[in-house]
Order: sequence, then C-alpha cells, then structure tokens
Amino acid sequence: MNIALVTGASRGIGRATAILLARQGWRVAINFARRADDALSVVAEIERQGGSAFAIQADISDEAQVMAMFAEIDRQPGALTALVNNAGILFQQTTLEQLTAERISRVFATNVTGSFICCREAVKRMGYHHGGSGGAIVNVSSAAARTGAPGEYVDYAASKGAMDTLTKGLSLEVAAQGIRVNGVRPGFIYTEMHADGGEAQRVDRLAANIPMQRGGQPEEIARAIAWLLSDESSYITGSIIDAAGGR
Ligand SMILES: NC(=O)c1ccc[n+]([C@@H]2O[C@H](COP(=O)([O-])OP(=O)(O)OC[C@H]3O[C@@H](n4cnc5c(N)ncnc54)[C@H](OP(=O)(O)O)[C@@H]3O)[C@@H](O)[C@H]2O)c1
Repeated sequence: MNIALVTGASRGIGRATAILLARQGWRVAINFARRADDALSVVAEIERQGGSAFAIQADISDEAQVMAMFAEIDRQPGALTALVNNAGILFQQTTLEQLTAERISRVFATNVTGSFICCREAVKRMGYHHGGSGGAIVNVSSAAARTGAPGEYVDYAASKGAMDTLTKGLSLEVAAQGIRVNGVRPGFIYTEMHADGGEAQRVDRLAANIPMQRGGQPEEIARAIAWLLSDESSYITGSIIDAAGGR
C-alpha cells in the first residue's frame, strides 16, 4: 500500500485531505505539530471508514523533526509516493508597518522552509535517481499569493508566493525523475486558521466579495489535491489550481 504524507492533517484542509486520500486507498501519514488528540481522531475516523493511517508529530519548521518524521515513515510498510505540503501558519491581522523580523521568520520557517525540506526528503524517496518509483507532490498555497493580503498578513502572502515558485522550480527539476509537483491555491475556506488571524468569522464577512458568494469547505480543496496526486492528472506538473470561488 502506498503512503501519502499530509502535513498539518490534524484539522482543516489537511484533515479533509487525509480522509479523502484514505478512502481512495492510500495509507495516510497524519502529521501534526501540537494537537495529538485531533490527529488521533483523524486516524480513528479513517480506520472507522475501513482505511489505514498513522499519526506522526513533527514541527515542520524544525529540520531535525522533519528528518525523524521521514525516518519513521521509512519504517512503515509501503513506500512514500505522495506528499501534501499543507501545514501553514499566519498570525494576527496587521499592516506591514507592524511586522517584526521574528514574526516574518516564524511564518517563513513553517510555510517555506518546512515545505522545502519536506519536498527534499520526499524527492530522495520517490525519484528514479534514488531507486524510487516516482510520485506526486502538492503544495497548498493560497489566493493570498496573488492578492498580497494587504492590511492583513503580507508576510503570509509572500510565503505563499515562495511556495508557488517552489512548485514551479521543483516540478522542472524532478519531471524526469517520475515526480509531479503541483499546487492548489485555496480562497476563503471554513477552518480554524482565521481565528489565528484574530477574526474567526472572517470567511462569513468576506463571502459577499467572492464571485460565487460563499466561502469554501475543506472537502472542496481536498478533492483538488487528491486529483493532482492521482493518475487522473498524470500529464500535469508545475501547475497551480485556483480553488477560490472565482476570486
Ligand atoms: N483556511 C483558509 O481559508 C486557507 C486559505 C488559503 C490557504 N490555506 C492554506 O491551507 C493550509 C491548511 O490551512 P487550514 O486552514 O486547514 O489550517 P488550520 O485549520 O489552521 O490547520 C493548520 C494545520 O497545520 C498544522 N501545523 C501548523 N504549524 C505546523 C508546523 N510547524 N508543523 C506541522 N504542522 C503544523 C496544525 O497542526 P496542530 O493541529 O497540531 O496545531 C494543523 O493541522 C495552510 O497552508 C493554509 O495556509 C488556507
């Protein structure tokens, strides 16, 4: 059974993606940072549905923890052939004038460096040049990479812009190694992330500005991610799907 690693799978978009991938036959590695109970409840839900999953704690901004996570995956039955770089963070809405170097570094350490090193370790396991059988990577970016998130979190938006460049560059580096690398840019999705920005009801406030007149559900993003991991998208690499209700 092939393994799919989903970072930040204890809740939100990562949780929905993990549950969908398990239904599609993947054994899913449920990465989380702090909320072990939530991660274990995702594993339990997958097993209740007849699927296979295991939880792995690792703060992806810490290289040593990422290395330990991949070593643990290596010990599991099955080969890693899919990675979803989903874990991401943002902080309180504010203008750029209020940003500190410490905050910017924290956002980039998780969203950018964490995604890079997870890609690096995945490529070492999937690439033909390493004896792997190929695979697929999906980077979960954000519509903020296009809008810039002015007055809210330009640091977060810029980190997602970096992820889009990672998607492009890595897709070309590993195209001949049997690895496809694509991205998904969600719009306003109902998850707990908005509370971290200080506005739990943000999606409802902004819904009227979305062409489709509503926020998205995590499952709607999960389906785009799962499709990009599947053979249904076998000739697609270096592409980014906007899943933002027309925004
Ligand atoms: N929600 C939206 O409207 C929206 C829009 C565009 C893009 N996105 C992107 O979609 C992705 C998922 O967002 P979400 O809304 O589902 O987020 P969320 O509900 O806030 O969940 C975040 C997940 O990431 C994990 N995480 C955070 N920092 C981590 C770290 N350093 N190492 C490992 N795991 C970490 C959390 O683990 P714990 O539970 O253990 O804390 C949790 O599982 C993010 O990349 C986000 O930027 C979201």
